Amino acid sequence: MSNINAAITAVGGYVPDYKLTNAILETMVDTNDEWITTRTGIKERRILKDPEKGTSYLAIQAAQDLINKKNLDASTIDLVIVATTTPDMPVASTAAYVASEIGAVNAFSYDLQAACSSFLYGMSTASSYIESGRYQKILLIGADKMSSIIDYTDRATCIIFGDGAGAVLFEPTQEKVGLEDELLRSDGIGRDFLKIKAGGSLMPASQDTIDQKLHYVVQDGKNVFKYAVSNMADVSEQIVKRNSLTNEDIDWLVPHQANKRIIDATAKRVNLPSEKVMMNIDRYGNTTSATLPLLLNEYETQLKKGDKLVFAAFGGGFTWGSILLTWAYNS
Ligand code: UT7
Repeated sequence: MSNINAAITAVGGYVPDYKLTNAILETMVDTNDEWITTRTGIKERRILKDPEKGTSYLAIQAAQDLINKKNLDASTIDLVIVATTTPDMPVASTAAYVASEIGAVNAFSYDLQAACSSFLYGMSTASSYIESGRYQKILLIGADKMSSIIDYTDRATCIIFGDGAGAVLFEPTQEKVGLEDELLRSDGIGRDFLKIKAGGSLMPASQDTIDQKLHYVVQDGKNVFKYAVSNMADVSEQIVKRNSLTNEDIDWLVPHQANKRIIDATAKRVNLPSEKVMMNIDRYGNTTSATLPLLLNEYETQLKKGDKLVFAAFGGGFTWGSILLTWAYNS
């Protein structure tokens, strides 16, 4: 085991100004505020309206927020990872563009895609590089312009997702803080339950796929819900147990924001009261790769050095997992 620990030493975030409320959605599809609120906990989501701007715009704003708050010289960043499921383009790396735009001129960079678990997996990747001793500063950004892949005539999906981005900086430390344990999983059984059918190598985009709206997200919500509830709760419980911790040792649950009922079930399994559960789904909906860093950005001032955080996520693929991390600073 390396004696170098990988700590989060700064956070940043960004959401676009435009609020897509439940009241507005009521005018677009056959739905209502009461259904959306009781089934998901969502009241509004942020949408990047400018058609000229993609996920990189969100990522750059979040990274810039972190850089300003930390007073960081971007040229010292070694690696920029953009966790995203909505890259600017299918081929050119979004992360490469983001790194150049923020002045990370000495960094290498790439995108990481694991649907709603992209950021969680990215935490594992970034930490491993740091623990290896090869790199000193890794900027991990979770960013998604979900509105670019949502069919706003499909009430099963358009009420759920929003746009946003969050960023964290990983740095080495000898102190007993940072990422302590991870439990990451995947199961291809989920491929048919949550996907965009066309636009990839299996079914390239064509006039026909566009006419059939196959370039939008489709979800078998009931099945995804079933797997998400049990798997997110299972890994969270396991990571707490195998580190010989009890609910009293955990200061915060940092859960992916897909559905308040999934979050509540996970919190219940690890026996944590709502005061210890980070939540912003009511205001942002499911921002996919951005949910976890956006939570950290919002709760940063409440976090204290030494706090134990349990992260949990579940997403398309299926992909899921949990991470145990000790917070490294007081803000
Ligand atoms: O982050 C990635 C992973 N994704 C998730 O974790 C999402 C997991 N799934 C969910 O969060 C939930 O399944 C949803 C919120 C998507 C749906 O909630 P549900 O309680 O599973 O509803 P349902 O799909 O079983 O639909 C129940 C009823 C249906 O009507 P019938 O067949 O009972 O007459 C739907 O047609 O609700 C209807 N319905 C709606 N009604 C009003 C579906 N969407 C809506 C809507 N407004 N937006």
